[in-house]
Amino acid sequence: MIKQQVNTHEVIDIIVNILDARDPNTSVHSWRVAEVSGMIAEAMQLPEKEKGILHTAAHLHDIGKIGISDKILNKPGSLTAEENEQIQAHPRIGCNILGRLPMFREISMIVLYHHERFDGLGYPEGLTGENIPLASRIISTADTIDAITADRPYRKAKSAEECFLEMELHTGSQFCPTVISYATMIKDDIEGVLNELKIKGIKHYAFVGHEELMHSRRLI
Ligand SMILES: [Fe+2]
Repeated sequence: MIKQQVNTHEVIDIIVNILDARDPNTSVHSWRVAEVSGMIAEAMQLPEKEKGILHTAAHLHDIGKIGISDKILNKPGSLTAEENEQIQAHPRIGCNILGRLPMFREISMIVLYHHERFDGLGYPEGLTGENIPLASRIISTADTIDAITADRPYRKAKSAEECFLEMELHTGSQFCPTVISYATMIKDDIEGVLNELKIKGIKHYAFVGHEELMHSRRLI
């Protein structure tokens, strides 16, 4: 049997393509979360290797939604307790999918903890504070920034100013204070990039190298 070397970026590209075909909304949201996560990591001056891992994890953070039915994912209005439980399984499903490949073990753990809260009231394990991987704390912050500043069927998008005021109220409870302080320092840049992405859209592209991972913005 011929053993071929597996290229990490090619594998990531395949997974991102699967996600995009299955659920374009989650895929586009993940692009924005990856961009904002990268900007926060840059402001925190994290090492290049950590920034690369964070960027990939941000693209794949909601991959577990593949295992949740569309009926629940797209349900208008409130969810039943049982439906909520199913949605809350997505970090574990994502971790189980990614953890099968040794090259994605670290990324799978970041995905597992992206819905933990600083005060321990998150899921799936209720980790607290710095026991939550830093990359997961960054993704959780970027995830919320994108959710608040994006239009939803039931409400208009809020400005970055309003978004950060709202997030400040939950700093130390939901969000990591260190991550929030760096994100706040660059809030105008974050708003600029999110606006740019919303206006011009995100063009699909292949991951071709590490630099591409870190400079992934491709605008139509
Ligand atoms: Fe999620």
